[in-house]
Amino acid sequence: MSDVLDKLTADHVHIARLLALFEEQVRIIHAGENPDASLLQDIMGFMTHYPDLIHHPLEDLVFEHVINHDKDARKSLQVLLNEHEEISRVGHELKVYVDSLETEALVRRDILDKLASDYLKTLRRHMRHEEEHAFPLARKLLDASEWDMIRAEFKVKDHEVFGKVLDEHYQTLYHSITGTSD
Ligand SMILES: [Fe+2]
Repeated sequence: MSDVLDKLTADHVHIARLLALFEEQVRIIHAGENPDASLLQDIMGFMTHYPDLIHHPLEDLVFEHVINHDKDARKSLQVLLNEHEEISRVGHELKVYVDSLETEALVRRDILDKLASDYLKTLRRHMRHEEEHAFPLARKLLDASEWDMIRAEFKVKDHEVFGKVLDEHYQTLYHSITGTSD
């Protein structure tokens, strides 16, 4: 069992919880009422940083190692790698709308509603695909020495101390947004 996959799976649980909180607010917007704008901003602040800085780079590394082992997996894993970029792009677009909720009276709520629904659907499908297909493949194909390499490569790409501090910062931020300790 890989602690890297444990971390990625735990990240998914956290992201899913944030998406559920986000969805509650989308329902409020859909009903024509005022959402909790600061909660939406906090969630999108997290979602446009943590995955780009830590979660997706680590997954990218794992998937690249899997592709080296199993060329047949290239096509399906490449879809997931491309989706990391797409999720980042849509997330930043959504953040602009969420950030303008308090300052601009005429935020196009229909556009926000549509963008948010697409974002939630895409991200949930993406994580399910990773959990059902990519993570089991990585668990099956990669041995202990390869997991060591992934940890080492990740530390090179994202300096060990900085990466750890940054990760802790986002875990704390996550707990303060959700009001949870796990
Ligand atoms: Fe993921």
